[in-house]
Amino acid sequence: MSSSWVYIKDLKDYLDKKIILKGWMWNKRSSGKIAFLQIRDGYGFVQVIAEKSVLGEDFFNEIKKLKNESSLIIEGTVKKDDRSPVGVEILAEKIEIIHEPNEDYPISNKEHGIDFLMENRHLWLRSRKQFHILRVRNQIIKAIREFYLENDFTLIDTPIFTGSIGESAGNTFEMEYFDYGKVYLAQTGQLYLEAACQSLGKVFNLGPTFRAEKSKTRRHLIEFWMNEAEVAFYEHEDNIKLQNDLVNYIVKSVLENVRDDLEALERDISKLEAVNGEFPRITYTEAVEVLQNQGYNINWGDDLGAEHETKLSSKYDKPLIIEKYPKHAKAFYMQPDPQNPEVVLCDDMLAPEGYGEIIGASERIWKEEVLLKRLEEENLSKDDYQWYLDLRKFGSVPHSGFGLGIERTVAWICGLEHIRETIPFPRTLYRVYP
Ligand code: 4AD
Repeated sequence: MSSSWVYIKDLKDYLDKKIILKGWMWNKRSSGKIAFLQIRDGYGFVQVIAEKSVLGEDFFNEIKKLKNESSLIIEGTVKKDDRSPVGVEILAEKIEIIHEPNEDYPISNKEHGIDFLMENRHLWLRSRKQFHILRVRNQIIKAIREFYLENDFTLIDTPIFTGSIGESAGNTFEMEYFDYGKVYLAQTGQLYLEAACQSLGKVFNLGPTFRAEKSKTRRHLIEFWMNEAEVAFYEHEDNIKLQNDLVNYIVKSVLENVRDDLEALERDISKLEAVNGEFPRITYTEAVEVLQNQGYNINWGDDLGAEHETKLSSKYDKPLIIEKYPKHAKAFYMQPDPQNPEVVLCDDMLAPEGYGEIIGASERIWKEEVLLKRLEEENLSKDDYQWYLDLRKFGSVPHSGFGLGIERTVAWICGLEHIRETIPFPRTLYRVYP
């Protein structure tokens, strides 16, 4: 074949030219002398017209019987077609069957139950909706990296095995590490970013984190990806501005670069377009008052549940920042508010439309004696945190940071009810296969 291999996204530049298409036939229909093959190639979806008169009777009959997900190499001419989402279709001249399944493809156009789809996640990834979600995820991650690199941050890859519990002892994965003894899978890379910001000023990471969450919810994964940032000399206000800027940057970037994918997912784009400028802010104490006034049975000091969060964020079309939670509802490392030491200088950012918390953030305790007291209060052994305490011994400075959950962000941007479709191979309470 002398023509050149072109991806579906670029076909419109080859009108009336002969090209080669390599991909999979995800569906077909035929009527008498013509077969319409629906082809995908990783970059889009296009219809290929296979005619008996061109391919010859025997081969045409073979094509008519092809099973879905056969892989093909097609040589043909690109023709304008205004009904096609890519504006073209292909008139096939030659088709090479690379591999034809012996059995029917298990995933069809009919509705399948979620357990079946999860069991077949390795094949489900090929479906149109999953294709679009994974492209949006990719763009979100790309935007995150761009944001930090454009703002002079340095990437710090933080470890997965750790001897110091980063969040809370309640949901760690523990294991024996050679002669060292007990270690944990990272719940966060934060403590290590705190060390690195004293070397490089503004730092970030992006990687998998692990939490043995025993509750089965739409928003929790056991293995999830987090982007964290940490900045030396940043205080609470600087931290909030940074999160606000990052989220605006992500939304702008997806609207500019993967709008077609969002439309294919039937996302209400106007809801994303409303996300810009400064986000609304309330304190935890105000949030509790709002909920109490609405008849919720909640007391100061209680955690905000998913239902509370949805109620609170429903008033706004932008993400909502809730700040200054009670000290005991939050992790040990958060800086008490000098105005009221019962609360800490932290914030959670809730996505609009009820998609829940996407960011957890705080200014960190930077005085050694305050940190020692908090470790003791939380029953954490100071021996496990010697290196972390060292950071408070040598040129300690106020510093702040946050973590953005990638899957929660993807769920919000794509408008997905459940987090399980936002990651290629989800690990949930009952699933580690495939
Ligand atoms: O609020 P979290 O627990 O914050 C931390 O881990 C801090 N150490 C981050 C930091 O300050 N460097 O988690 C941050 C975000 C949450 O807002 C949420 O988006 C996501 O991580 N997240 C989860 N996503 C999916 N499944 C889970 N089980 C999650 N737990 C947290």
